[in-house]
Amino acid sequence: MKENLSVDLKNISGFISSDEIIRLAGVSAKHLDSLNAGTGKGNDFLGWLTLPDDILPQISRIEKTAKHLRSVSDTTVVIGIGGSYLGSRAVIEALSNSFSSLLKTKHHDIIFAGQNICEDYLADLLNLLDNKNYSIIVISKSGTTTEPALAFRILKSHLEKKVGKPEAAERIIAITDEKRGALRSLAETNGYETFVIPDNVGGRYSVLTPVGLLPIAVAGFDISLLVKGAKSMEEITGRNTKSSENPALLYAAARNLLLQSGKSIEIMVGFTPKLHFFSEWWKQLYGESEGKDGKGIFPAAVDMTTDLHSLGQYIQEGQRILFETFISVKSTEAKVTIPSEKDDSDQLNYLAGKRLSEVNHNAEIGTTIAHNDGNVPIITLHVPSLGEYHLGQMIYFFEIACAISGYILDVNPFDQPGVEAYKKNMFALLNKPGYEEAGKKLKERLK
Ligand code: PA5
Repeated sequence: MKENLSVDLKNISGFISSDEIIRLAGVSAKHLDSLNAGTGKGNDFLGWLTLPDDILPQISRIEKTAKHLRSVSDTTVVIGIGGSYLGSRAVIEALSNSFSSLLKTKHHDIIFAGQNICEDYLADLLNLLDNKNYSIIVISKSGTTTEPALAFRILKSHLEKKVGKPEAAERIIAITDEKRGALRSLAETNGYETFVIPDNVGGRYSVLTPVGLLPIAVAGFDISLLVKGAKSMEEITGRNTKSSENPALLYAAARNLLLQSGKSIEIMVGFTPKLHFFSEWWKQLYGESEGKDGKGIFPAAVDMTTDLHSLGQYIQEGQRILFETFISVKSTEAKVTIPSEKDDSDQLNYLAGKRLSEVNHNAEIGTTIAHNDGNVPIITLHVPSLGEYHLGQMIYFFEIACAISGYILDVNPFDQPGVEAYKKNMFALLNKPGYEEAGKKLKERLK
């Protein structure tokens, strides 16, 4: 049997007692009930809860399409933003070789676009794609989000010029709403293969739908194992587990008690750059789910030990409004042993024969003690390995804990009304039809 990820709260015991955590976890079990019964806030967006089972009938079609893209091209551009992009990127970066784009060995490259409107980024991408044999996966639930829609318009035209319209249509896959939105109409008009984002799954909870699974499969990773990991976490965090042993309830309770004690910023800490985009995914999940109605914990992230030489100073000695969540990965894939040097001029012979992971592990323990001594509470998530199965566990764990945590805060964890504010202003400033009056007012304000 595979080892499971687990939550370790011993490094917050100097700040919050385990009795308090267990009490709030027990009380919060009612939120698990309302999630399962569909009686809480945002209950029309609970489809993600049962995705580990519901997605199974689609796995073989996703794999077939991934195989097709891999056979007709050597690069896939994945276009999407927010929840339509971060989940696949998190998993792909965690599983990939750190230098995959520079490797000479035959493999399929994944490139992301539509997650910004930077002209230089897209110009660089177009230049690169001039010499690439590529396909496109375009993802947008609403089908109308400006950033991916713009990138798709530009890249679609590039691909059509390069390989011709009929061949481009064979290389473009659209993932969007079943019926609504400009992307749905575009896909139908042009005859693209499509996958559906279910109505009851919001963007940031969609990694276990084709939104996340198709790019991950195209990158060559085992999506069945990812879903299997998520399924195991669905069981572990379900109502059959005692609340005092349910990792999602314990994590949700602990972070809310820390917030109540004045710690309003949570920093996710990874000790491998492979987790960088997992933290980005987590930041979006928690930021968009909790940050509303004047409430929420601000989610931030650092990569260690890199950031110990940067934000580490603030974490150690700055305002005491922080707590950290360490992702502690037990085993690494590869082995690098530190060599011995005859003259020891760099004075590192005391480490000779040790593996780098041992040094990294001691850096992690040293940081835990230092930050705790500096009054920073630390929740630790122990992850047995960075493979598909445990990434699946991590995804489901953070999703269910986020929903519970949102209910503890008494917010709707499944909407994001605040995202509209910048869009309205941008549309008004760009004279989008229907925004003329708003545009006039804004331009007055800018005088
Ligand atoms: O979580 C969410 O719903 C958002 O972050 C969306 O994923 C993001 O805004 C992109 O939306 P769409 O997929 O409609 O283009």
